[in-house]
Amino acid sequence: MEKRRLEVDSEQEMERLGAELVQVFLAERNEALVLQLVGDLGAGKTTLTRGIARGLGIAEPITSPTFQVHKEYPASPPATAPSATEPPLMPQKSPTQENLILHHFDFYRLQDLGVMKNELEELMADKNNVIVIEWGGILGDLTKNAKTIKIEKLTDEKRVLLLE
Ligand SMILES: Nc1ncnc2c1ncn2[C@@H]1O[C@H](COP(=O)(O)OP(=O)(O)OP(=O)(O)O)[C@@H](O)[C@H]1O
Ligand SMILES: [Mg+2]
Repeated sequence: MEKRRLEVDSEQEMERLGAELVQVFLAERNEALVLQLVGDLGAGKTTLTRGIARGLGIAEPITSPTFQVHKEYPASPPATAPSATEPPLMPQKSPTQENLILHHFDFYRLQDLGVMKNELEELMADKNNVIVIEWGGILGDLTKNAKTIKIEKLTDEKRVLLLE
């Protein structure tokens, strides 16, 4: 995807954008999808992650992993199957049928990566993983292949997202 600038006017729109973006990125990826979210406290990184989870069909509530560093949420099967009674005419392939797992990281409070470096490398090698990272500065080179989304606060409710 080329560089893009997207504006949202509300928390709801931010979530909707997350749900749409993850579908676009999933279609483009070859390996694990790694998204690095960059923005100040309260910019909307966790809110966007909530939308990403929704786009993956995850019903479980997404809470900020600040005190836990890593939370994972398996994608549930599609909420609405094309037809419950008739078999599909074409082989069905949707992201949620690939056993996707959302991994939400927040390194805000972490001083030393330790064994988490190996854990991340393993997760990044598996195409079924969608890895969303907040405050990933500590990761250095580990995020060199990540897609970066910068979020800037324009007003109380408006945000701008810069996709690189
Ligand atoms: N357009 C918007 N998009 C996202 N959040 C918004 C928007 N408008 C208002 N908000 C509010 O901004 C806050 C964003 O909080 P959020 O936890 O998503 O930020 P964060 O970037 O994850 O912060 P932190 O660095 O502390 O983890 C929420 O309180 C949310 O209600
Ligand atoms: Mg957050």
